[in-house]
Parts: sequence; C-alpha cells; structure tokens
Amino acid sequence: MDNRCILGIESTCDETAAAVVVDGREIITHVIASQAAVHEQFGGVYPELASRHHLDKVSPIITEALRSAPPIDCVAVAQGPGLVGSLLVGINAAKGVAMGLGVPLIGINHVEAHLYAAIMGKQDTVQYPALGVVLSGGHTALLLIKKIGEYELISSTADDAVGEAFDKVAAMLDLPYPGGPHVEKLAKEGDPHAHPFRAGRVKTNPFAFSFSGLKTSVLYACQKPHSKADIAASFQRAAFSDIKKKMTLALEQFPCRSILLGGGVTNNKALRDLLNFDLPTFLPPPPLTLDNAAMIAGLAYEKSPAMSPSNLTPKPRLKAFWS
Ligand code: KG4
Ligand code: ZN
Repeated sequence: MDNRCILGIESTCDETAAAVVVDGREIITHVIASQAAVHEQFGGVYPELASRHHLDKVSPIITEALRSAPPIDCVAVAQGPGLVGSLLVGINAAKGVAMGLGVPLIGINHVEAHLYAAIMGKQDTVQYPALGVVLSGGHTALLLIKKIGEYELISSTADDAVGEAFDKVAAMLDLPYPGGPHVEKLAKEGDPHAHPFRAGRVKTNPFAFSFSGLKTSVLYACQKPHSKADIAASFQRAAFSDIKKKMTLALEQFPCRSILLGGGVTNNKALRDLLNFDLPTFLPPPPLTLDNAAMIAGLAYEKSPAMSPSNLTPKPRLKAFWS
C-alpha cells in the first residue's frame, strides 16, 4: 500500500458524483447528486438537461468530497462511455482541479469501473482468471478477466442492455424511470411463471444476449388484461434466468476461479439470490452498484498517472477495455 489518495469524478449519464479513495480500498468521501427526478417526466435521460444539471452540481459536489479529505495525489475522471455533453462537464472540472492542485489526471473507463466496484477492499482475495459480468443500463457483457486491466470479450448484447430492457418494460407497465427498482418491487407481488417469456439467442455466439424479443412479448402481454405484477415477475425471471444460463455456459468453456459482477442491475435482490455458483462471487455493495465516483477513484489506483491534464478528451463510445 502506498497511501495514494485519489479524487474521482463521475458524470457519464445522470449522476454527478465525486469521491476520495485511498489505494483503491478505503473510501474517505463519497458524494452523489442524482438527476433521476429531472428525467422521470421524459421516461429516460434527456441529454441537454443532463449536461445543464451536471454544470450546476459539479463544483459543489467536488467541494464536498474534498472537504474532509487528505491531500490529493491524483485526479481520476470517467472518460466514457457516456453522453458527450455530460462527460465534458466532469472532464473539464477534473482538468481544472488537477491543474489547480498540480497533480496528474487519469481517464477511466466507466464500465470497467463498474466491475472494479465489486472488488474494492477485497482485491487481494480475488483469484484470476475471473468471469466478468457487466449488467448496466448501457451495457451487458461477459468478459474473461485475466487480471485488472486485461480483458477478453466473450459476448455482449445484440440489441438492448439488460438495464435498458428493465427501463423499457417499466415504461410499458406505467412505472417511472429508472424502471429497474420499480419492476423489481412489482415483481415481488407477481407469479414469475404466469407468462412463458424467454430471452433470445444469438445464432453466431451462444454466450451473447438479446432482449428485444422478450420486450416485444411483454408489450403484447401488456395489451391484454393481465396482472402487471405477473408480467413484471415473468419478465424478470426470463431476463435473469437467461443471464445465469449464459454465465454457466461461459464458465464451462472458459474455466474461471471467481466471478465479478457490476452495473446498476446488480442492485436487484432477485438476481443476487439466483447467483449460487460454486465459485467466489463478488458483487458491489449496494451503494456502489449505481453510477458513483468511488469506483472511478478506486480503479484509477490500478492505472498509471500517464496524462497531463490538458490532453484528456471525452470518449463517448469508449469500449476499448475489453478488446
Ligand atoms: O450501471 P448504471 O447505474 O448505469 C449505466 O452505466 O448504464 O445502471 C442503471 C441501470 C438502469 O437501467 C436501471 O433501471 C437499472 O440499472 N437498475 C436495476 C435495478 N436498479 C437499477 N435493474 C433491475 N433491478 C434493480 N433493482
Ligand atoms: Zn454506469
């Protein structure tokens, strides 16, 4: 341990967050301003409004995160993937802080950080190779993790990300955005076998995901007088049993010594209950499942501070961490 104190900044989508983390393990401060209420009326994130709200919040959130923190050695910022206007706000703030403090700046891949959230504080107990499972609003993927920073993509989704499917199903059931937690709540009151919903298969890759057919089945069910709770429960059962099936298949083909899961959908208790694999399984603690800056500051500890602040640019379509 070298007592490296990193300020992390996150603004990829609709959360403005800042956190200070020491050595990727000890979270000193952790501040988040969520815009969920702003976007609720639109049923999804309204990009221009997201940027404006980041602008309002970014300075106070950073100031609060720094208030009780030790001296900062480095600033880390989510560089992508995300909404370009939102990314620009966080990145420019991060540049300003790094230049002001005279410390280096590191650009972090937001999706990689979601997986890192699962092992923060437990890094020394994780054995590799590990199966990485990204279940967020923007991404769904299985990865072979050789070590932190070295990934091989096994599969992704042919259409929607699983969180996106939850959000769209929530809209069909007249539930607010973001839909995942509302679908989970409603599903508790329903029969998961009321509808024989199934997620799709992708011909070219047995490990890949497809949720668009499942979504269409839900849409048809919503047009008939069925119980909404039964639809929610059956959808959730279909989505999660498909994820578990493909994880099982991947573990047969790619022997792994542990499993790491990350992304907002890992908040779901029904999913967590389903994960009874015979391998050590790492999940983020609930406060680190959704977008946050502790995971950004945490992952930055593993990366070299190679950037001078002025060189960092947003990468809205960043994917490279698993190539
Ligand atoms: O990882 P995240 O915060 O954002 C991205 O990087 O995309 O994930 C947000 C997604 C949303 O689609 C939201 O509906 C979903 O995670 N989500 C859930 C739950 N909580 C959040 N999905 C299912 N069950 C939940 N409890
Ligand atoms: Zn995220």
